[in-house]
Amino acid sequence: QFDGHHSVWLFGYGSLIYKADFPYLQRRPASIANWTRRFWQGSHDHRGTPDAPGRVVTLIEAPGAICHGMAYLITPEIFAHLDHREKDGYLRLATPISFEDHQAGVGVGDMRVGDARAGDNVVGAAGNVSADKAAVGAGSVLGLVYIATPDNLAFIGEASERDIAEHIARSAGPSGPNSDYLNHLAHALRELGRDDPHVFEIERHLVELASRMART
Ligand code: BEZ
Repeated sequence: QFDGHHSVWLFGYGSLIYKADFPYLQRRPASIANWTRRFWQGSHDHRGTPDAPGRVVTLIEAPGAICHGMAYLITPEIFAHLDHREKDGYLRLATPISFEDHQAGVGVGDMRVGDARAGDNVVGAAGNVSADKAAVGAGSVLGLVYIATPDNLAFIGEASERDIAEHIARSAGPSGPNSDYLNHLAHALRELGRDDPHVFEIERHLVELASRMART
């Protein structure tokens, strides 16, 4: 029952922006602070294979940065589906989420940092209640985000946007070509009216690579 007592805000910054294959109560453009989106995570199960992983996004700490995306109000059961979908190195992190319209999610989404359970894969939560609560002001709620940290086995790491584009251009997996993922994400960010120089530069290189391929 959606009575305001069992719902959680989830922030999406990758495929969750354009692919919500789960039920949700609300969907709102949102952002999180001090993180930036990077195509530094390997994908063995969606946009690549175990032998030739593709590249998908994760969040990298970047003080002062704002990462724009989409927030979903969901019930906790939905995490079982998402944990399976994002099992390749991602864990859940508790984070303040700001809505783009600056209206608070008052009365909906009742997560408190203390709700994070040991088995929940939530990091950065326990023992940090007052700091996180202080960060949540008008137009913000405390929610969750999936991140893949540099110590996970599928992490690939930094490369130039040009090299990332070449990597993406040659990768594909059970969910389809890696380039579809990049293109869907770039399209979704444009629809949100949000610039992301990293994503758009990779997109530009991909277009260039495709036209070069077409000429040969
Ligand atoms: C996201 O869109 O937020 C996301 C999707 C897959 C894995 C991690 C994050």
